[in-house]
Amino acid sequence: MEKLYEGKAKILYKTEDSEILLTQFKDDATAFNAQKRGTIKGKGQINCTISSALFQWLESRGISTHFIDCPEPTQMRVRAVTIIPLEVVVRNIAAGSLCRQTGLTEGTLLPFPLVEFYLKNDELGDPLLTSDRLKILELATPEQIEQLQSLALKINQYLSEFFTSCQITLVDFKLEFGLDSQGQLLLADEISPDTCRLWDQQKNDPQQRVLDKDRFRRDLGEVESAYEQVQQRVLAKLGLTEN
Ligand code: TMP
Ligand code: ASP
Repeated sequence: MEKLYEGKAKILYKTEDSEILLTQFKDDATAFNAQKRGTIKGKGQINCTISSALFQWLESRGISTHFIDCPEPTQMRVRAVTIIPLEVVVRNIAAGSLCRQTGLTEGTLLPFPLVEFYLKNDELGDPLLTSDRLKILELATPEQIEQLQSLALKINQYLSEFFTSCQITLVDFKLEFGLDSQGQLLLADEISPDTCRLWDQQKNDPQQRVLDKDRFRRDLGEVESAYEQVQQRVLAKLGLTEN
């Protein structure tokens, strides 16, 4: 199959149908704009499984996604979309770059969910955009920006509720959206421990509670078992495993 694009964690292939693409999830992990590189064994399969489960669950709540099906455990067939080069981040609790840039203490509950737009451009280091910069760049129409904002908040509400039912706190996460050939806005990319901060509600220790890629970013160890833990709880909650 013809390779369309290779990213840090996934490879995108064309298929015989121009409306359908195939995503191959990799075990490769990068952080800090690929300055740190490594492998998380089994990550490709776990992220593909978690993302598929969450996309289907969101679809059942009325959110349109690019998900079609999984022909293999590390492969997802998706609707072909043109990705809007924006990373839409939603934050419920202060962590990561929000703490570094504002001095807020990690773990501070935000008074409202914060939606932020970052430019998806590795060469520029994915900078945070102001609303005027967003308008000037014209990467999406003002109506689409409004739509992205309200979709992001709705997805946050659904996912926060879902993860809470798994005894996991959804601290923050990153979404990407694309437009299909009919111009329909679809949730794309992935939703996984690579793209979310997830804290175990059963643990109080600030390092032990981390169930996401921060274990890799911050060299906390036990990365694979954290990803497995998220997969197990998500699948169990959806009735997709025996436990
Ligand atoms: P940040 O605190 O580093 O800005 O990250 C916010 C959220 O976005 C966090 O859940 C991790 C996710 N994220 C990505 O998925 N990809 C990225 O390249 C970055 C920087 C963050
Ligand atoms: N995925 C991004 C990178 O490699 C950053 C991150 O997730 O921390 O650069």
